[in-house]
Amino acid sequence: MQEKLSEIKKATLPAIEAAKTLAELDAIRVGVIGKSGSLTGLMKELGGLSIEEKKTFGAAVNTVKNEITAAIEAKKEALEEAELNAKLQSESVDVTLPCRPQHIGRIHPITQAIEEALTILVQMGFDLAEGPDIEDDWHNFEALNTPKEHPARQMQATFFFDNKNLLRTQTSAVQIRTMENQKPPIKIVCPGRTYRRDYDATHTPMFHQIECLVVDEKANLANLKTVLEEFFKLFFETDDVKTRFRPSYFPFTEPSYEMDLGGVMARNIGKEWLEMGGCGIVDPRVLKSCNIDPEKYQGFAFGFGLDRLAMMKYGIKDLRPMFEADMKWIKHYGFLPLDVPTVTSGLSLNGGKKCD
Ligand code: DAH
Repeated sequence: MQEKLSEIKKATLPAIEAAKTLAELDAIRVGVIGKSGSLTGLMKELGGLSIEEKKTFGAAVNTVKNEITAAIEAKKEALEEAELNAKLQSESVDVTLPCRPQHIGRIHPITQAIEEALTILVQMGFDLAEGPDIEDDWHNFEALNTPKEHPARQMQATFFFDNKNLLRTQTSAVQIRTMENQKPPIKIVCPGRTYRRDYDATHTPMFHQIECLVVDEKANLANLKTVLEEFFKLFFETDDVKTRFRPSYFPFTEPSYEMDLGGVMARNIGKEWLEMGGCGIVDPRVLKSCNIDPEKYQGFAFGFGLDRLAMMKYGIKDLRPMFEADMKWIKHYGFLPLDVPTVTSGLSLNGGKKCD
């Protein structure tokens, strides 16, 4: 037995020394001190020896086992270090290589247009107002002087959920929500999604509007025209802007107008006038449905399509790709995010344009 022990020791220690990889080393460990290893086998034989023999031989086996374990540990450390060094050598960083391209998302032109429009209007003193996309009949129609059976309802092909709930067809619904909760003076701007059952080259079932409402003791048509003209000048960054009001009809304004934009933006596409949206003096019945005294207060309002505004400003020809989530399109027309505070994030307007 003693012989066997020395043989194991003699064969194992140099083998450990010669091992070149961690796997090789582990194979040696298993072969010697693993469950069916040679030294483990020898230890099992101890059972058949006398007490005296057990003492001396047992101690000898343990010493060899400790020696082998220590040798394996030491070799393991050395191999691991060598492996790490080799790895560091082969994976050294070449700092002169160009960096990997960073994919930065783009701001959608609609979001950009909303930001630009709000920057202007908030600086003119309008407060940002919001309402839900899923509206009820009262806010979207009834309180806007458009009761059931009113022919004007047909102007807006509505998505109804049931008799009461619908997808808002116009941001004008936010006028009602604001006036119900706030007393004059009121001066709000509301951008947002609106929905109608329409789909062709110039209509999508979801589109965006921007709406303004002013209610105080003196708000009048001249104010309305000035606000609109100033807004267009700042938004399109030109003084070559004209506005024209054409008599029209909306249930919630009296008188009502269709507003047209003239000047360079119209000439750019070979036209004298471009139809932008609706406006007018708030109908006293609308004020009444929000418990605002029409004898004391009056107001003006306007609303227009934001998508059209974005298309005009950024030279986008077709409306439909705006909402198709096409990466190529968004890469082309989208804006790089700038590190300036935005109106919609509710921060200050330091990065915005100045209104005179
Ligand atoms: N809500 C109207 C529409 O979607 C547009 C509009 C007309 C808004 C007149 C107004 C307004 O605020 O006064 O067709």
